[in-house]
Amino acid sequence: MLEIKKEIDKLIADLTKYNYSYHSKDESLISDEEYDHLFKKLIDLETRFPQYKNPQSPTQKVGFQPLKEFTQATHFIPMLSLNNIFSDMEETTQTVRHQELIQFDKRVNDTLEATASYVATPKYDGVAISLIYIKGILHQGITRGDGFIGEDVTLNIKTISNIPKVIHITPLPELLEVRGEILIKTEDFANLNINQDRLGLKIFANPRNAAAGSIRQLDSNITATRPLYFFAYAITQIVTDTKFTTFYEQLLYLKKIGFDIGDLPKECKDSQELISFYEDILAKRNNIPFGIDGVVYKVNNIAAQEKLGFVLRAPRFAIAHKFPAQMRESQIIDIQIQVGRTGALTPVARIKPVTVGGVVVSNATLHNQDEILRKDIHIGDFVFVRRAGDVIPEIVNVIIEKRSTNAIKFVMPENCPVCGSHLVKAEDEAIIRCSGGLYCSAQKKQAITHFASKLAINIDGLGEQIVEQLVENKLINTIVDIYKLTIEQLIDLERFGKKKANNLINAINNSKSTTLNKLIYALGIRNVGEATAKSLAKTFGTLENLMHAGLVELQQINDIGEVVAISINDFFSEEHNQDIINQLLNLGITYPINTSTSIFNPLVTGKTFVLTGTLTNYSREEAKTLIENLGGKVTSSVSKKTDYVVAGADSGSKLDKANALNVKVISEDEFKQLIA
Ligand code: IVH
Repeated sequence: MLEIKKEIDKLIADLTKYNYSYHSKDESLISDEEYDHLFKKLIDLETRFPQYKNPQSPTQKVGFQPLKEFTQATHFIPMLSLNNIFSDMEETTQTVRHQELIQFDKRVNDTLEATASYVATPKYDGVAISLIYIKGILHQGITRGDGFIGEDVTLNIKTISNIPKVIHITPLPELLEVRGEILIKTEDFANLNINQDRLGLKIFANPRNAAAGSIRQLDSNITATRPLYFFAYAITQIVTDTKFTTFYEQLLYLKKIGFDIGDLPKECKDSQELISFYEDILAKRNNIPFGIDGVVYKVNNIAAQEKLGFVLRAPRFAIAHKFPAQMRESQIIDIQIQVGRTGALTPVARIKPVTVGGVVVSNATLHNQDEILRKDIHIGDFVFVRRAGDVIPEIVNVIIEKRSTNAIKFVMPENCPVCGSHLVKAEDEAIIRCSGGLYCSAQKKQAITHFASKLAINIDGLGEQIVEQLVENKLINTIVDIYKLTIEQLIDLERFGKKKANNLINAINNSKSTTLNKLIYALGIRNVGEATAKSLAKTFGTLENLMHAGLVELQQINDIGEVVAISINDFFSEEHNQDIINQLLNLGITYPINTSTSIFNPLVTGKTFVLTGTLTNYSREEAKTLIENLGGKVTSSVSKKTDYVVAGADSGSKLDKANALNVKVISEDEFKQLIA
């Protein structure tokens, strides 16, 4: 039984992590299918073992807390989620295949004691939004947030051209709340990424992340440049004399007052028609010009909807019928090992090219050795390949019946296939790493390529192939060597020549004036991506400050937890790295120092203060705010963990305790200097 509780707790922890990343950072850590699968597993366990039900479980909640950067807005009608059903695509008879749908319809009919009819619509893969109109004027746009409180993104919403800003209809509703989904159409998404790349900006993983990120911009001028599109799917509040008996009438009303409801919604009189709708939309999924991840069925009659009501996080009158992940059959031609920048060995399957969800796939990641063993993958096997959203294609399973006797079992090498160094495996990780570090030419080349890449130091023309050539010709061995290259050395290389050599040297020289965030990112510190590099640059202002930052100071920064802080600390503690950085700075790499953005004060950030006695220049509250603004903390009692006791006039027992514990005591003047 304890095992079950452990499993439930683990599922809750994992799903909460994925949820947080998805809702607060607009980033997917796993595919939607994987998420749904885990979510379903958790619901099953919680239903079977209700004694382990936990109010913190994601099954009991919707979305995630709204971001604190936006003004919060309460939803008058909570923005709930939908329950999901799936179809078993392996089954051939429709009644078995769509069993979950048929059960849903039966539950609805049993409750209503009548035969329900429905409206079926696509399930748009975007961001949910609630729009409030007062006397016909767009008043507010609110994101879902945690379902009860969302973020007020009105200014951003107003930049979306197909959202009506004013409504004209008689009678004009006093109040109207429209719910729908903001998305980016497939073609617009492709163009957006081309543009982002051209401008050296972030490439979005998928249209949904791009839409979510665009809606939550603090600067609505940026939102205005994004090709956002709105589909309305429901009216949740309306104060008007117009009467509606069905949900479908409401959709038509929305259309009449200027909302796009799409041309796919359809009235269906029974579960058989819902099944046909599902099959039809699934078949044309790839030809629909925007992303959908399933269909939604809603009971059409409004009185019936009200009778069915809600359970905790979802309505009983509606359900989402999710599409299966896009899968195709192929064959594994070979398995090769890639050695990454951090030395991680990743087995990659080379497969016969197949089109999955509109994209040609010829490689699929096998993640690690455990995965190969678990899925029992052999070279020559026929397999199902899946591509889910932004995720790298992967092998779902082997079609064992088709395995030929020539299939070869794959074994991981005992040494690094590139440099021969021994391999290491951390106990709690499935990943095997080459221990060669920068001795390993695969790691070396990738570290240099990363350093030179666009979002890093940005040396135009120094891509993977040229780096390979320069390393092979022993012209560069570390990133520092890039800045020692001469035209003479390059000119005689194969496929070079005077012009290309000149261009490269110019690009190298140009890269010397950079920005601190690019430089930090370029160093290739493990776990430090572009966004983290930006936060570090902003907080610390100079490379020097960053190099001397301790674990506590680093963790004061939003998004930086223990693991990342340790990576940063380890990196800068390494003498070899300090040496490289000093050489880079000596060779003339510079960046503008922006002191105004630096909120870093190494003497205060991460430190714990106790205030005692009477201060003459500040009230206790003011002193506390000053310390907290600089990243410090104020507690009320002195302990060994206290860094400073600020002692004003007439200090009493706290001062004695500080002296007894050997805690540093400073006067008000010293405090003033400290925070200056
Ligand atoms: S109806 C009370 N209809 O899916 C009914 N939702 O997984 C509320 N979604 O929060 C939802 N397309 O953001 C509905 N045609 C559609 C939808 C749709 C996408 C989203 C919506 C909802 C989520 C639930």
